[in-house]
Amino acid sequence: MDARPRYDRATATLDPPFAVLDLDALRANAADLVRRAGGKPIRVATKSIRCRPVLERIMAMDGFRGLMAFTLPEALWLARCGFADILVAYPTADRAALATLAGDPRLAREITVTVDSAEHLDYVDDAVAAIHPRPEIRICLDIDAGYVALGGKFRAGALRSSIREPEEAADLAAEIAKRPGFRLSGLMAYEAQIAGVGDDPPGNPAMARAIRVMQRRSARELILRRGRVVNAVSRLCDLDFVNGGGTGSIERTVREKAVTEVAAGSGFFHPRLFDFYRAFTGRPAALFALPVVRRPAPDTITVLGGGYLASGPPGPSRLPQPYLPPGLRYAPDEGAGEVQTPLLGEAAEDLRVGDRVWFRHAKAGELCERFAELHLIDGDEVVGTAPTYRGEGKTFL
Ligand SMILES: Cc1ncc(COP(=O)(O)O)c(C=O)c1O
Repeated sequence: MDARPRYDRATATLDPPFAVLDLDALRANAADLVRRAGGKPIRVATKSIRCRPVLERIMAMDGFRGLMAFTLPEALWLARCGFADILVAYPTADRAALATLAGDPRLAREITVTVDSAEHLDYVDDAVAAIHPRPEIRICLDIDAGYVALGGKFRAGALRSSIREPEEAADLAAEIAKRPGFRLSGLMAYEAQIAGVGDDPPGNPAMARAIRVMQRRSARELILRRGRVVNAVSRLCDLDFVNGGGTGSIERTVREKAVTEVAAGSGFFHPRLFDFYRAFTGRPAALFALPVVRRPAPDTITVLGGGYLASGPPGPSRLPQPYLPPGLRYAPDEGAGEVQTPLLGEAAEDLRVGDRVWFRHAKAGELCERFAELHLIDGDEVVGTAPTYRGEGKTFL
């Protein structure tokens, strides 16, 4: 069935703006992530969900193990809500949260914090100095998985850890081993240049070719280096997990023997930026509806709100996509507005004040920072409403 009449009917009694989650699409996307992971567990990236009841639904499905959180206060909250095995995948400088972690052995058992330097270890030590006795703090070492070529003149991938080579990882692992109060439990190496960069960008075949070459070379380099890093560290301690990848790289990442689990988040909602990968096709699951509030010209409508830009390098790819009805585009001088957004195109001729335009966010979880709840659509009815992080008053970032 055409999605637009279904969504319009299911939400007929709601007044936009509001956000929805299509549960059929969510389940199909989750099943496809599990298929792509080929038997390795998927750690769910909460930054790309930001809705606790939806995280609960996902964790109740087969194939998912553990959460990848984005801040320590978030992880503390999730652990208190009953979630287990939470990796905070980005270093923290939150002293109060570190003290809370070290003050509660149960939280310390469930949460792992990420470091990439002795400076991070010093910081944690300092933040928890007053706590005696202190449970061991679980540590994950972040390894740079970026791609470097031309003697360092070319680099692709996120600028994260400075730890790249096996010897560097082993040195930091040895430093962790010799400090009381820490336990090295995992490694993480996120290849953003593969997992987060679509290899099928629209209208740019030369760029597509360049991306594919870069990704092939990067994957080849990584399979060796990640394996060597894991070997070097494993000589010093028993690792519970080696995490890599993301939605865009799952089938590639799981091929590496050294990797024990993959991370994924965006693939559940399948936002706009994930339309441009050849290896998989998701179904848009998270949408938001904005009301038509005026008609400045026959082929132009104006909707309320809309300027929900995604993070990352600024540009048109970060704008929400006017999705349904198809054929609407932004006015070049205005884009997606702070309070109102004009949309042009033939499809505007059939829209009246009070009708909805359905949008997709460019990224996944950031949508939930704009809306207090997600209306859950199953088939052609709303079957429930789930508060987002924002709706629960949890604005972690
Ligand atoms: C450490 C880490 N792993 C995995 C991911 C992939 O997340 P997603 O599947 O939402 O793209 C990210 C995204 O930024 C990340 O930072």
